[in-house]
Amino acid sequence: MGSGQGTLGPPKVVNIEDLRRLAHRRLPRPVFDYVDGGAEDELTLRENTRAFHDISFRPRGAMVIKKCDLTVRVLGQELSFPAMLAPVGYSRLIHPRGETAAAKVAGEAGTAYILSTISGHKLEAVKAATKGPAWYQLYLLGGRAAAEAGIERAQRAGYSALVITVDTAVAGMRERDPRNGMKELLGKSLLAKLPYLPEILAHPRWLAAFLADGGVPRLENIVVPGQGPMKLVDVAAALVDAAVTWDDLQWIRKVWTGPIVVKGILTAEDAKRAVDEGAAAVVVSNHGGRQLDSVSATIRAVPEVVAAVHGQTEVLMDGGIRRGSDIVKAICLGARAVLIGRAYAYGLGAAGEAGVTRAVEILRADLERTLRLLGCPSVAALDRSYVEVPHAWECRRDINKDR
Ligand code: GLV
Repeated sequence: MGSGQGTLGPPKVVNIEDLRRLAHRRLPRPVFDYVDGGAEDELTLRENTRAFHDISFRPRGAMVIKKCDLTVRVLGQELSFPAMLAPVGYSRLIHPRGETAAAKVAGEAGTAYILSTISGHKLEAVKAATKGPAWYQLYLLGGRAAAEAGIERAQRAGYSALVITVDTAVAGMRERDPRNGMKELLGKSLLAKLPYLPEILAHPRWLAAFLADGGVPRLENIVVPGQGPMKLVDVAAALVDAAVTWDDLQWIRKVWTGPIVVKGILTAEDAKRAVDEGAAAVVVSNHGGRQLDSVSATIRAVPEVVAAVHGQTEVLMDGGIRRGSDIVKAICLGARAVLIGRAYAYGLGAAGEAGVTRAVEILRADLERTLRLLGCPSVAALDRSYVEVPHAWECRRDINKDR
């Protein structure tokens, strides 16, 4: 890698928050807020990052570790470090190369990229852009026939897992979006757009790239038979009918023959259901605080889910990861690996591919340094003995263990 030079290196960019600040400057507010914001009062959004502060480390001193082993196996595939790139919808609005740039960086870093259904690039092009594993995240947008066509394409293109998101019965109320005129800006009426245009015009660099890319992208992977790719502006309304239910898993499994990952698990009950339904992995996730507000921080739910599945399925987590030490904490609590979303999306907004590279580089260096300071030689050796969690977290795990 080595993008840590020039404008993306120190002193400008030392951590993920620095990339967030650059993205804030470069992106028009509706796009930045789409990435940065969460549902309603954003309680869960804030809690996702804050809850990591409640965990303290218990290091082992007087240890010299010459080489740290950061590798991990997820669904049988070796990753060079335990963080994958999460599905981020609308990535092509953040940067014209959006999903393809992020996938390329993931592959170069030796990790997996997960493509959102809400993608402006064709899934085949995204798969071709990465030399690492790619997974496909599925919403039933456009109905079952469109979903089946998407799944078949993903299978043909070589995606190695299908991720089913179960926390999106309807889109959460992200209040920043209507305030910023997101719907109007994505729609056709120039009159409706007018009040919001000054903000867009104030970001000429982003605007020039957006126009050169052809304007608002179509959703190339949601092709409703006889209608062509879905329009971005139609997504929020279409999400109402796009929820995946446990019953859907039956027909999905007939179309998709590979492993299925269930994303959006927060309780022992749902974790067990996912195991019963044959999930190869679950992702402890609250959708980055973008869906139901006031659910607990995902890191708090990890011990409960880990205890509930008894090693029968792999446990991943996402939500609030901004530092390598957050990744270490999640693994100490039993997650096999994490998904990073905003952490790389800020990089994408700040500087396209180079920004994503920088985000991954920061997290990886953090992770390795944290292991050395902890006196732990490898990610595989991390366990509960390296962390102390508040007593209340232990109670939650114990109460729910036998449900
Ligand atoms: C889509 O999944 C979103 O969170 O915006």
